Amino acid sequence: MLEGNKEFIAKSLENDPDYFTKLANGQKPPILWIGCADSRVPANQITNTNPGEIFVHRNIANMVIHSDMNMLSVLDYAVNVLEVKHVIVTGHYGCGGVIAAMTNKQFGLIDNWLRHIKDVYRLHASKLDLIKDEKERQDKLVEYNVVENVYNLCKTSIVQNAWQKGQPLAVHGWVYSIETGIIKDMNVSTYDNANMGNVFKFNSPPTP
Ligand code: CO
Repeated sequence: MLEGNKEFIAKSLENDPDYFTKLANGQKPPILWIGCADSRVPANQITNTNPGEIFVHRNIANMVIHSDMNMLSVLDYAVNVLEVKHVIVTGHYGCGGVIAAMTNKQFGLIDNWLRHIKDVYRLHASKLDLIKDEKERQDKLVEYNVVENVYNLCKTSIVQNAWQKGQPLAVHGWVYSIETGIIKDMNVSTYDNANMGNVFKFNSPPTP
């Protein structure tokens, strides 16, 4: 990794001799990314973006939990100080956290975290239980988990207050496929202010 760091410095300076000087001046990323901690889903690489462009928060199974001070601090800083325009919850198919939440096996401390995903399952059990194929059912729960966490995000006091103030802020839900590299938009984008067209898309329940 340290060798890789030297290569990164050399390559960056080759492209732009002021690369690090510019970044050191401060950040103004337009996006907050809330994604899974999975090593295969790095925000910048899969969206072909650069350092300085995405503010990132990652945890197991890209959860937005109202009592999580870590997530709330990141969200508050991103919305109120950095004034990001978009918050994107990005899940991914084959998510170990989601799959673990579908079993009754104990995994340790993480079980308490996964509890929230079990709640998402319970909420959508009538539809999920109809899906015979296990992988298909896992994929669907991954999608529901993103949608529910987009809801959670919208309901935080931080996002509610931003909308109240008329701050341009949109919330989105995406799912990434590790198998194909494709990001699927779950079409639950939500924004509620004049600058973004007064659109509030939560009138009908989302159908992922
Ligand atoms: Co995951």
